Amino acid sequence: MGSEESTSSAYPKLTHVPQHVAIIMDGNGRWAAARGLPRLNGHQAGTENLRRVIRACVEFGVKILTIYAFSTENWGRPADEVEGLMHILEEVIDRELDELHREGVKLRHIGRLERLKPALREKVLHSMELTANNDRLLLCVAWNYGGRDEILHAVQGIIKEGVPADQVTEQTISDHLYTAGVPDPDLIIRTSGEMRISNFLIWQAAYSEWYVTNTLWPDFDKQALYEALQEYGRRDRRFGRLSHCEDYGEQHAG
Ligand code: IPE
Ligand code: IPE
Ligand code: MG
Repeated sequence: MGSEESTSSAYPKLTHVPQHVAIIMDGNGRWAAARGLPRLNGHQAGTENLRRVIRACVEFGVKILTIYAFSTENWGRPADEVEGLMHILEEVIDRELDELHREGVKLRHIGRLERLKPALREKVLHSMELTANNDRLLLCVAWNYGGRDEILHAVQGIIKEGVPADQVTEQTISDHLYTAGVPDPDLIIRTSGEMRISNFLIWQAAYSEWYVTNTLWPDFDKQALYEALQEYGRRDRRFGRLSHCEDYGEQHAG
């Protein structure tokens, strides 16, 4: 993280830093197209950017970062793009895991691992085991993740456990999601300007603040993140009630 931290004085301290930021990292393909490059170059650039954003999150005091990296619907893309994305994930783990571990990042995969090749699956599992005791930043990687799939998986789990219908609560469902135990996102950022949820955290986003920027993901830098966090600080989160119900956060945290 070294060199970037020295610039921190350029960023006045934020008030109301969201505990949990989730990002729909969109726009890699358009970033590449604008440069006459293949789409995979855009994904590569997006991956490079992720390093910056992870480090900026640590610096700004975000405790949980969830990133949407591959959706259950992304299997519908051309085979070479899907293959390329899987390869990029593998490379990222190989290249970044040790440093992320040293920096105190705890990794958690959300989504289904089944469809991944065994070697990649093993790497994902190993990365979670290695970093299990870290606590500087929890990085949840949504890979082969779909919100509907997650809810379906949760319902199946609840039925398999034989929980009586009248004992199923909202908490029961939350506890059976891939994100069990992780507080809901406070802020969801979507890059590249699309105004849709694209099957991301559809249960958990019930009261998240949304921030959509036209900036394409590979260009979404530390300054862009800072602006999103500043904007979050100006929001009035009401949770269906009236202003300044600040006890909500405590009731719903964790
Ligand atoms: C987001 O970028 C990354 C993934 C979905 C894997 P896109 O690949 O969706 O980029 P655009 O939307 O085509 O520009
Ligand atoms: C959402 O982006 C998924 C990820 C960023 C991984 P998409 O590019 O797949 O979403 P749509 O197709 O524009 O809704
Ligand atoms: Mg897209």
